[in-house]
Parts: sequence; C-alpha cells; structure tokens
Amino acid sequence: SFEQSLRPQNLSQYIGQDKVKHNLGVFIQAAKQRFETLDHVLLYGPPGLGKTTLAAVIANEMGVNFRTTSGPAIERPGDLAAILTALEPGDVLFIDEIHRLPRSIEEVLYPAMEDFCLDIVIGKGPGARSVRLDLPPFTLVGATTRAGAISAPLRDRFGVLSRLEYYNEEQLTNIVVRTSEILETSIDHEGAVEIARRSRGTPRIANRLLRRVRDFAQVQGDGNITKAVSDHALGLLQVDRLGLDHIDHKLLKGIIEKFRGGPVGIETIAASIGEESETIEDVYEPYLLQIGFLQRTPRGRIVTPLVYEHFNMEVPSP
Ligand code: ADE
Repeated sequence: SFEQSLRPQNLSQYIGQDKVKHNLGVFIQAAKQRFETLDHVLLYGPPGLGKTTLAAVIANEMGVNFRTTSGPAIERPGDLAAILTALEPGDVLFIDEIHRLPRSIEEVLYPAMEDFCLDIVIGKGPGARSVRLDLPPFTLVGATTRAGAISAPLRDRFGVLSRLEYYNEEQLTNIVVRTSEILETSIDHEGAVEIARRSRGTPRIANRLLRRVRDFAQVQGDGNITKAVSDHALGLLQVDRLGLDHIDHKLLKGIIEKFRGGPVGIETIAASIGEESETIEDVYEPYLLQIGFLQRTPRGRIVTPLVYEHFNMEVPSP
C-alpha cells in the first residue's frame, strides 16, 4: 500500500541508527551465506523510533514473510500456537510490546524459540496429554519500550539485542525531506530543519508534524513548506521550540507548581495531572530525561534548572 511505501524497505533506505543497522547488516549477510535462519532479535527503545519498520526491513532483506502480532493480542497458548504453526520456514514473526506477553505464553515461546517446537496440552484433567509439534525454523523479532520489563529467561533467548536511540537533527531532517518527496510536497531546507528540531528525536512525530504543516501550507499558503510556514503551523499545534507539547508542559509545570520541583513519585505525578503513569514512563519521560529536563532520583523525579529557564521562570534557590 501507499502507507507502507512511506516506510523504508531495506537497510540502505533506512536513515539513522547506524550502529544497529551496520551490525544487523552483518548478521543478515552471514545468515544468508550459511542458508540459515537469522537469530532472534530484540529491539528496544522509546516509541516511534522505527522498531516495527526495522523488523519489516529485516524480513525483506532476508527475503521471507513478515508476520506481526503483539504481546497483548496473544491471550491464550492456542493463539500463539495458531500463529507459529502457520509460519513458513525462515519467516520473521514480529511481536510488538513483547513485555506485555502473559507469563503463561512466554513459557510456550521458550521451546519454540530454542528448539522450534511446541508443547501443547490436549484435553483436561487426568486424561490430558502433552504432544510435541515441530515448527518451521523462524526468526522472532521482539520489540519493547522497556528492556527492563522483559523477564531474564525471555531476554536470554534472543541472539541479537539492539537498542534504538533518538535521532539527531540532521537525520530527522533527512527523514522529513524523504517523506516530503514521497508525499510530493514542496519543502525547503529550513522548513524541514524546523520540523526536525521540534520532533523530539522521533521519526513518527516528524512525519506526523510534516503532514499537519503541509495542511497549513496548502490551505493558508501556496503549498510550499518554509521555515515561516513551519513556525506558524507548529505554534498553532502547541508544539514549542524544543518540540514539547501540551502534555510535556502539564507534566513539567505540575511538578514545579504542585511539588516544588520534586522529588515526586511517578504515580503521584500521574494522578495529579490525570495521565496514565505507564504513558508518562514510556512516552513522555524518556525524552525529558534525554534532554536533561528531568532527573530520576531514589526519592522520585525532579525537574532541573533547564526547565525553569525554558519557561522563563526564576530558578528557585535551594
Ligand atoms: N521514516 C520513518 N523512519 C524512517 C527512517 N529511519 N528512515 C527512513 N525513513 C523513515
């Protein structure tokens, strides 16, 4: 589909994540030369950095089918058995949010990953018996926002562990320019840089902001995206100079105004601003930690002087 073609299809089209890309390139080439299935790969890092895209690229580079599911979607062992038995040799099975896989399912996954077999229990009570099914060899690509939330036995069964990192401004600019070309939208360099700068190091955000800026350029301008158009549109979208949005503001100002800048526990902050603590931890906090706006201490989160400066507030004296 067109949406799919927005995404890079192979490693050479994939911008950024140079170390991960380089290493994966070697492992893919080695597996292909040996006519083997690629080892299981765990991709981890904040949302929107391209874990799903990279998994699809791996399948495409290996020349196999790409099958996708997610941790929460697999509720019973039979759900997993149905997926695994439908695989063809060498296929990539992508499990998104793998840290949310129920523990009972994880146990079915271990022999599947290790020995490509499935132990299933048929029947109930004293008549129940276990049968062992052979599976085609496959590559499991797991993705998670929190490597720490994965059990050690599951983590140990991945041969490749790759951490995706936030993209820099240049890489995001290149992504914005690439997407603009696919969308057949005219954009100048400064316009692309402005969107890149305000995308929190995240391609998914960059591509979303690009589409919204393009709407403003089309309706209120001549269709061309310049720095002025980007500034105007992003201001109206409540995306500030650093790319922080309404929820980042609520979070940071909440800590300052309700907890004197912290330290404050994540659950307490979450309740006070009416957001899920899991969303704060997985989506908002990682970037704020990365840019040095938040710090984690044993007693909870604190905002740093950078936050006061960003909001033109006086830095409180200790
Ligand atoms: N679109 C979204 N992420 C991308 C990436 N890393 N490289 C190229 N295009 C992208």
